[in-house]
Amino acid sequence: MSIDPTTTSAWSELTQLAKTPVNLAAAFAADENRAARYTLRAGDLVADLSKNLITDEIITQLLALADQTQVAEYRERMYRGERINVTEDRSVLHTALRRPAGDELEVDGENVVDAVHRELEKVFTFATQVRTGQWRGVSGKRITDVVNIGIGGSDLGPMMAYEALKPYVSEDVTCHFVSNIDPSDIADTTAHLDAETTLVIVASKTFTTLETLTNARLARTWLLDSLRAAGVITADEDNTAVARHFVAVSTALDKVAAFGIDPNNAFGFWDWVGGRYSVDSAIGTALAVAIGPERFREFLTGFHTMDQHFATAEPKSNLPLLMGLLNVWYVNFLDAHTHAILPYDQHLHRFAAYLQQLTMESNGKRVRADGSEVNYHTGEVFWGEPGTNGQHAFYQLIHQGSRLIPCDFIAMANPAHALRDGDQDVHELFLANFFAQSKALAFGKSAEQVRAEGTAEAIVPARVFPGNKPSTSIMAARLSPKVLGELIALYEHITFVQGAVWGIDSFDQWGVELGKQLASALAPAVAGDREALKATDASTRNLINTYLQLRE
Ligand code: F6P
Repeated sequence: MSIDPTTTSAWSELTQLAKTPVNLAAAFAADENRAARYTLRAGDLVADLSKNLITDEIITQLLALADQTQVAEYRERMYRGERINVTEDRSVLHTALRRPAGDELEVDGENVVDAVHRELEKVFTFATQVRTGQWRGVSGKRITDVVNIGIGGSDLGPMMAYEALKPYVSEDVTCHFVSNIDPSDIADTTAHLDAETTLVIVASKTFTTLETLTNARLARTWLLDSLRAAGVITADEDNTAVARHFVAVSTALDKVAAFGIDPNNAFGFWDWVGGRYSVDSAIGTALAVAIGPERFREFLTGFHTMDQHFATAEPKSNLPLLMGLLNVWYVNFLDAHTHAILPYDQHLHRFAAYLQQLTMESNGKRVRADGSEVNYHTGEVFWGEPGTNGQHAFYQLIHQGSRLIPCDFIAMANPAHALRDGDQDVHELFLANFFAQSKALAFGKSAEQVRAEGTAEAIVPARVFPGNKPSTSIMAARLSPKVLGELIALYEHITFVQGAVWGIDSFDQWGVELGKQLASALAPAVAGDREALKATDASTRNLINTYLQLRE
């Protein structure tokens, strides 16, 4: 039986506490140590939680809520490899992907840590071969471009991390990421590539995903057509060419073989790794090629550092636990609907996109793990853009709109590119914006301050910033592979904590199935089959008819 969190005493206490709004300005005035007291360290990350709408009493009750919903026990069960993904009857063991070699964790009679390291070594050998030019295309040329074809967790993780770790990426190999079944994606990507020097990684946990298999077939056709047109291969050399230019990453190696990729050129992982938790498995092969085995190991160390922190830090200083509980506080007691992710680091420009799958595919659930319906809100909408682009787009609403939007600001002390504009260090200017935004959100600008600037009375209200808007600021020295691993694991565990309190299964994703089924069922109607069109509902029929009229 799942625990209904609303039946706990902590939930009742928090409901009461929410009736007395926290005033950030007053809280800082009353306690000069507030910033220090609420600043935590986890690995290389420093997180300042002091600008959240919290008091010690609220934190005490949030921790009580975690106790009463057995978050710690659930965490232990996850780390041990119990089948906590109940609707798919699977273990949830992304934490095993980053345990050091030599550790032991037995699942179904196998030491999964050994299995993880065996597979990692295969990935690293391959990555080194590509990076050193030992792996050659069918015409003997070295690989200059890698195209990762995958979607969801088989795309977002490696793509986000590739962008984030640009300063560590090899100059000899460029990675590209194709995910959308919109033919423009593969067409635009291959348009600039030379088939003789291109290697395709087909990444799919299930190896059944329509988008990925369609794109993989399109890529194969492009590759073989291009090689034939260049006179590099003859009609009977297709398999040789595919073997030199296609590798796969999957848990379904039989399906890889059926697709025509040599299983010797395939890297495996396990059903206990959720797609959105898989960037640190073989799904990260493109990233391993780009940054190399050493850096990839550092990336894994970052994850493991955060896993250890989550497992062992005292509740009061446990960053993922507290950040997850804060999200529960905002969603369930202060009526927040969304959460903004605002990295002040251009290289994290796909971080919010990555987190959208991690958080929303995980916690977008309305029944608990035992099937009972929730009577409280669960997963909030995560969204965001890197600063300062977001400032000139949607910050208006965060500052002066009517909704409460908790924000996570993320910044690195050291820039990847130290540029100066005359006397001005541009990174300092950038970070001044990072500091200014959380300050403006927390402390606002009063009517008196606006008037003092000589503002006409009629427009004073429009220029007031109410303040008291919550935010967390996360900093690290620089965006290294290790720090990126820590950041990703931090959000994995925040997501876990929220799901644990809510009693939901954060590891299944049944909500994506219906659309997939309907797309397959509607394909004949879209192709003009009158009977299929007649069989569908009136609204969809109307839309498809409109499309058929517009299609040239
Ligand atoms: O969107 C559903 C989903 O199953 C995701 O969870 C997953 O990351 C994505 O599709 C891709 O799946 P696969 O790696 O099996 O191709």
